[in-house]
Amino acid sequence: RCRLSQQKERTLGIIKPDACGKVGQILDAIFQSGFKITKLKMCQLTRNEAFEFYQEHQGKTFFDGLISFMTSGPIVAFELMGVDAINKWREVIGPTDSCEARKGAPVSLRARFGKDNQQNACHGSDSLASAAREIEFFFPSVAAVRQNTAKLCECT
Ligand code: TYD
Ligand code: MG
Repeated sequence: RCRLSQQKERTLGIIKPDACGKVGQILDAIFQSGFKITKLKMCQLTRNEAFEFYQEHQGKTFFDGLISFMTSGPIVAFELMGVDAINKWREVIGPTDSCEARKGAPVSLRARFGKDNQQNACHGSDSLASAAREIEFFFPSVAAVRQNTAKLCECT
């Protein structure tokens, strides 16, 4: 017999350059919050990649600083799976500004490991659409990889 279970959701998380020394503690918190880590990688973004990832913020006053920060060192990107994972992960990381987080959500990851409004330790997708785009950005599907390889072959 089949049991009804709640729909699982996927989201994209990042440990940002300022928090890469805390990977162990952050992964611990992720497991304790009940998420499953289904993909994970460490990498360093180029400026072009950071530009593409944060395209929705182009033109904002904090954009240049954000790009410099996000390309300043290695990051860890991962796909999380769980019930209501998108909202739940945003709750675990806390408010954007780590200073605000320390006031309102002291156990959140941004409160514990972030510094301010820019160096805030973690990223989390904010919707189903952005989760899909951001997961594909870091973990391109086999079809997309093939297409890209085909393009490269055409060029050479
Ligand atoms: P945003 O998408 O508004 O926040 P969140 O990461 O909580 O979804 O902004 C993206 C990142 O840009 C944010 O994590 C840190 C940086 N940022 C600044 O540097 N200054 C700011 O004033 C804001 C709002 C964000
Ligand atoms: Mg955002």
